[in-house]
Amino acid sequence: MIGVFDSGIGGVTVLKEIIKLLPNYHYLYYSDSFNNPYGDKSSDELLLITRNIVQLLIDKGCKIIVIACNTASAICKDILRETFEVPIIAIEPAIKQVFDNSPKGKTLVMATKGTIESEKFLKLYHSFSNDEMTIEAFPGLADLIEQNKKEDLKIYLQKKLHYNNIKNVVLGCTHYPLIKKEIKEILGDVNFFDGSFGVAKRVKDVVREINLKERTFKLDFIDSSNSKSKEQRFFDIVE
Ligand code: DGL
Repeated sequence: MIGVFDSGIGGVTVLKEIIKLLPNYHYLYYSDSFNNPYGDKSSDELLLITRNIVQLLIDKGCKIIVIACNTASAICKDILRETFEVPIIAIEPAIKQVFDNSPKGKTLVMATKGTIESEKFLKLYHSFSNDEMTIEAFPGLADLIEQNKKEDLKIYLQKKLHYNNIKNVVLGCTHYPLIKKEIKEILGDVNFFDGSFGVAKRVKDVVREINLKERTFKLDFIDSSNSKSKEQRFFDIVE
């Protein structure tokens, strides 16, 4: 079984890519909506939260853990990997993808405050950025997506996306691919980049490395607030 977690349903955008590459596996998705949003939490709080989630996923039988959250990955992945023996695969903002595939033109990197202020992010940014790249934190955006507040979301984006001639947008939070349409309505026909395909490829490699063999697709879901509507929305997006 492969465990995937995020601060809510955002990580479904990563899970979908993994399922495309590995359709015949058993997945357990943990949506931590009780602690959403992660983006404004301190490192200590996040470490405590994610340690408990990884332990729970291991106790349920997961042999690989995927941190489908850029914020938790940036802040906690090293310590989690030191603490647990299971392979832990972590997402990161797709800045290198822009560098490799679309280096010319203006790029906007969107992420949570927690991601942007992390050491890991700054290192990545300084390795692959150029002077046409702008980074901006979007506090509260993941929460609006999580709560599915469509009108508030529109107002928020109109206020925050005050950019012209953006060519590339790095979706540095796993909730953001769920609002590509809304972003395009303001910024126009931009190219999107996110880290989910990279994670899926890595999961496929690790499955091979640890020889994890399964035959049938199954998807289980746990939400930390026990929200039925969240569960419904999750399964609607997966399909
Ligand atoms: N989806 C998460 C991320 O990729 C976290 C969003 C949040 O809870 O603030 O950063």
